[in-house]
Amino acid sequence: MKITAIVAVSENNIIGVNGRIPWHIPEDLKRFKAETYGHALIVGRETFKSIGKPLPGRHSFIVSKEWLYRPNTDLRTHCKSISDAIARAKNKEYEKAYIIGGENIYRDGMQYCDEVHLTRVHTTVEYRPDDIVARFYDEYFLLPWEANFQAFDSGQTSDGKASFYKYVRVR
Ligand SMILES: NC(=O)c1ccc[n+]([C@@H]2O[C@H](COP(=O)([O-])OP(=O)(O)OC[C@H]3O[C@@H](n4cnc5c(N)ncnc54)[C@H](OP(=O)(O)O)[C@@H]3O)[C@@H](O)[C@H]2O)c1
Repeated sequence: MKITAIVAVSENNIIGVNGRIPWHIPEDLKRFKAETYGHALIVGRETFKSIGKPLPGRHSFIVSKEWLYRPNTDLRTHCKSISDAIARAKNKEYEKAYIIGGENIYRDGMQYCDEVHLTRVHTTVEYRPDDIVARFYDEYFLLPWEANFQAFDSGQTSDGKASFYKYVRVR
């Protein structure tokens, strides 16, 4: 099973503020849907809560340490760890799984990824001191991450407000 992290990141490496994504880029959402449709999603409890329900046509493997207390359905499976989510997706014979965040899941899941599909949003996100800010690559995983992947430029939105990159694991 191929595992890909898919993420949108501001110029100052922010992916969320106060539990929300601080931009709206319809082209990126369309791309996200087209790419992930029919596949497994590996998602943190907080991000799943903010989406509110399983995304149509995709199976959500929701990662939480409190997985035992929640019922599974056809489109949602609760998992105790990222490796448990990967095992359960493989068990259901998915060929592709997408790690879709948030911060904690990207950080802990990067070690399992064959590819990273990154949308660079050309904006600098402003935030206040008491805001809860989620970041993508910081000193904890930028360096090992960049050393292990090769980057390919794969285009931009029609208004030039975001660029797409594909990173493929080389070691
Ligand atoms: N820009 C983007 O592409 C993008 C994509 C997704 C999300 N986001 C943003 O990211 C932010 C949310 O990130 P977050 O880090 O706060 O939340 P999160 O990663 O979605 O969820 C965190 C929760 O997931 C569970 N978890 C995480 N790592 C785990 C592990 N290794 N093993 C077991 N359980 C684990 C824990 O649940 P329990 O507490 O239940 O144990 C943890 O509290 C939001 O602002 C959201 O908008 C941005």
